[in-house]
Amino acid sequence: MLDDASMYERADVHHVRDVLASFPAQCRAAAELRATPAPAVRRPRLIVVAGMGGSASSGDLLLGCAAEHLDVPVLVHRGYGLPTVAGDRDLVIASSYSGDTAESLSAAEAALSRGCPLVVVTSSGRLAALARERGVPRVTLPAGLMPRMALGYLFFPLLGILKSADLHVVKGGEVEEAFSVIDGLAAELGPARPAAANEAKRLAQAIGQFLPVVYGGPVTGVAAYRWKTDFEENAKTFAAAGVLPEMNHNEIEGWSGRLARELYLVLLRDRDEGAEIARRFGLLRELVGPGAAGIAEASTRGGSCLARLLSLTYLGQWTSYYLAILRGVDPWSVPVLDALKGRMRSDR
Ligand code: F6R
Repeated sequence: MLDDASMYERADVHHVRDVLASFPAQCRAAAELRATPAPAVRRPRLIVVAGMGGSASSGDLLLGCAAEHLDVPVLVHRGYGLPTVAGDRDLVIASSYSGDTAESLSAAEAALSRGCPLVVVTSSGRLAALARERGVPRVTLPAGLMPRMALGYLFFPLLGILKSADLHVVKGGEVEEAFSVIDGLAAELGPARPAAANEAKRLAQAIGQFLPVVYGGPVTGVAAYRWKTDFEENAKTFAAAGVLPEMNHNEIEGWSGRLARELYLVLLRDRDEGAEIARRFGLLRELVGPGAAGIAEASTRGGSCLARLLSLTYLGQWTSYYLAILRGVDPWSVPVLDALKGRMRSDR
């Protein structure tokens, strides 16, 4: 079905397919963006990435990559204000694509009042205004995208901000490697590539009307959460995500309930997941697979953590896109989310 071009014309009126196809170009452009004025902080004690939804997701990706090389903890803060631990020796990055997200603004204000070094990543809005008025270093992103579709813009500048603080998340050549891995995926996953040779189309077709439940391991857990939110926002479906080994100790019991027949299991695998985690994935398949609507696996590609997480996230973006097309829903707009934001502003 997904090989029928008319389906895209009907459901994807905002041409999300073009936005996804140009993700590699977005990432390359994003890697050139720098904060101005240059941040003055060097080797902070802690990095807090404060944001919500698609903007917070860049912090998760940073967290996933940081695990490989970084010797400073990263905390992704989703909510108002800042965690108590954040103080004047810590770097706060307030990230909001629109610049108008109340929680991210509140985090930026808390950082200023606590004297934390602050950098803002945004395209516009009140966060941009705050940065201008208070002389806060700001990375200015191109506007016009849905935040979750601006992951490249939101993520790559974080590497530059950390580098300017003498913190190195990636090693030489890893960014280039990640670009070439996603170039390859862009060629494989677009609508012109038939389902028989298109992993994202096949995954979406397998999930169909079932509810996706995405499990990752220690490396891919952050990607599993991103797959869930992309399914929710793009395909407008409930989705769940969890991480091994923790889900083996609780959530696994949920699969003995009747709902399991409606759930489609997607396992996100990684070549470096280790023998214990591989065994746990195998046992999970054996124990819960027979009761589920179906099971699929997807694997990271590339060598570095960056390439592996970015490639898996990109596959999830395309998969949730195709699920939206199959279900005949617009993958771009998020009317309920927008209505809630509007009410929060006007009901005050
Ligand atoms: C919408 C989306 C949302 C937003 C979130 C925060 O496309 O991805 O999850 O990211 O509502 O908005 P921003 O990112 O503008 O701060």
